[in-house]
Amino acid sequence: MKKVKVAINGYGVIGKRVADAVHLQDDMELIGVCDIITDWRIKIAIKKGFPVFAFNADFKKQMTEAGIQIQGTLSDLIKKADIIVDCTPKKIAAQNVEQYKESNLKFILQGGEKHETTGHSFSAENNYETALGRASTRVVSCNTTSIVRTLTALKKEGLLKKARGTLLRRATDPWESHLNGIMNTLVPEKEIPSHQGPDAKSVDPDLDVITVAVKVPETLSHLHYWNVQLTKNASKEEVIAAFK
Ligand SMILES: NC(=O)c1ccc[n+]([C@@H]2O[C@H](COP(=O)([O-])OP(=O)(O)OC[C@H]3O[C@@H](n4cnc5c(N)ncnc54)[C@H](O)[C@@H]3O)[C@@H](O)[C@H]2O)c1
Repeated sequence: MKKVKVAINGYGVIGKRVADAVHLQDDMELIGVCDIITDWRIKIAIKKGFPVFAFNADFKKQMTEAGIQIQGTLSDLIKKADIIVDCTPKKIAAQNVEQYKESNLKFILQGGEKHETTGHSFSAENNYETALGRASTRVVSCNTTSIVRTLTALKKEGLLKKARGTLLRRATDPWESHLNGIMNTLVPEKEIPSHQGPDAKSVDPDLDVITVAVKVPETLSHLHYWNVQLTKNASKEEVIAAFK
């Protein structure tokens, strides 16, 4: 079987999980992960036997000096890949897009980038088929994925009329709570709708969904409350069955 050669750019919270998932597939080959860091996080990739690349020559030097074996730069990784999954921070991935396009490389971006960057937003539950054969897509954020999955389950059973959600959003990652965390306070988003509702519509424009969001002093998870109008009277069992 010809394996698809997959590269990962950004070996952080998302990238390390994508790398593990790709590594487990029979029809994919993880040909390398790329980053700029020099600490324990990237050393885990080395420990797992993943080839490690640096964003550019400067970071290659820094990473090599930190004792990390570097196989090349992002440009070298791009030459070897059939597809790249870009999990770098917001706006950095968008800057890499031109390079991917020039190299005729298929690419997948994380949900921090705008829909327009690829013109397609993906959630397997809802629009898998529309991504087939595309040169690029963007996998929507965890909050948007949750919205799309939940509402799609009701939609597929013909139950969904409209949905209004309140999102309690975690403020930051646990290891960054000293930098941009919050304590004993709540920060409501001033704009209504918050971006997650429109983002869900970038996957499925037919969803009638509006969200509001509040940032809460929490580092591990988000909580969504939904007020959903159904198309007909439905029993509790019918609604639960839609999610099975
Ligand atoms: N994790 C989430 O829950 C979440 C939710 C919604 C959206 N996102 C979006 O996804 C992005 C990535 O999320 P994450 O949680 O994995 O972030 P992260 O900070 O854990 O990982 C980003 C990785 O990219 C690396 N990096 C930075 N600049 C780079 C460069 N120029 N070249 C290569 N690597 C570089 C960083 O060193 C880090 O390892 C976020 O910035 C955000 O836009 C994340």
